[in-house]
Amino acid sequence: MSSEKVPNPIATTAANTKTTPPPHGVEFVKGVNGLDKVVLRDPRGSLAEVYLYGGHVTSWKNDQGEELLFVSNKAIFKPPKAIRGGIPICFPQFSNLGSLDAHGFARNRFWSIDPDPSPFPTNTSNKVFVDLILKPTEEDIKTWPHSYEFRLRVALGPGGDLMLTSRIRNTNSDGKPFTFTFAYHTYFSVSDISEVRVEGLETLDYLDNMQNRKRCTEQGDAITFESEVDKIYLSTPTKIAILDHEKKRTFVIRKDGLPDAVVWNPWDKKAKAMADFGDDEYKHMLCVEAAAIERPITLKPGEEWRGRQELSAVPSSYCSGQLDPRKVLQGS
Ligand code: BG6
Repeated sequence: MSSEKVPNPIATTAANTKTTPPPHGVEFVKGVNGLDKVVLRDPRGSLAEVYLYGGHVTSWKNDQGEELLFVSNKAIFKPPKAIRGGIPICFPQFSNLGSLDAHGFARNRFWSIDPDPSPFPTNTSNKVFVDLILKPTEEDIKTWPHSYEFRLRVALGPGGDLMLTSRIRNTNSDGKPFTFTFAYHTYFSVSDISEVRVEGLETLDYLDNMQNRKRCTEQGDAITFESEVDKIYLSTPTKIAILDHEKKRTFVIRKDGLPDAVVWNPWDKKAKAMADFGDDEYKHMLCVEAAAIERPITLKPGEEWRGRQELSAVPSSYCSGQLDPRKVLQGS
């Protein structure tokens, strides 16, 4: 991927032609096909990359330089196709639960750097972050007739944690509320899908996308993978863990405002049917998506919704029994 440095896009607007250096740890570069990309670097070595196309995180590396997200080798970095992998944002519609294209349009729109993000209640002084904003185009309003401001903050914490905070505000001037569903469609990189288990979703109800969203109940054991999975788990806990035996790594997802969690792996047949996904790549990815689906969010004009996910990757000695995965879930 090319990484030519470019000036801060905020500084190159007509209103501000001076070159303002981006904040420390933040770089504006050109990515694949010349698309604008923001690189966040924590002083300890972790890194995240975000494309303005889609407001899409495409890379998250730990301080060892190991990639933690999956992006397909066949991903197409070209509108109108969403980038296959990383963290696409599904808004204002999850999947085909409505009249819009699958997963809505946020993932294939050009976002901007937010020059004026409204303040956050939490202290962000020790984080490297970028604020993006998406507003509807005239074309969008034809298919989803609403005015909104979608602010996305992508932040890297000092321990390498990756935090995404979405704030969606209804700015309709016609007094009308709007309703949406949402997901952070995170593709985690795993060593081998058959060596992975997900903890935190046992015994929960889910809608099975492979059976017309039939409502079912999960068994008591942690979830493992031996065939295609496409499930929307309902009313999930705020923490979910993905344990990768072979890598001896545990991903912990902490979420807020996002009660549901989608678990998806296309397995071999669906993998072959996707033009932007390698035939065997299903072995090395797992999507666990913090989401708000079962109960869509309704906002009146002036109201704002907030949905947040925080990802951490911790070394796990799970195989040798030194670390009980339940402690990962229960610990802070
Ligand atoms: C998942 C859905 O979230 O995304 C699946 O549950 C879907 O049903 C998958 O196949 C990928 O969607 P897309 O539109 O990116 O190919």
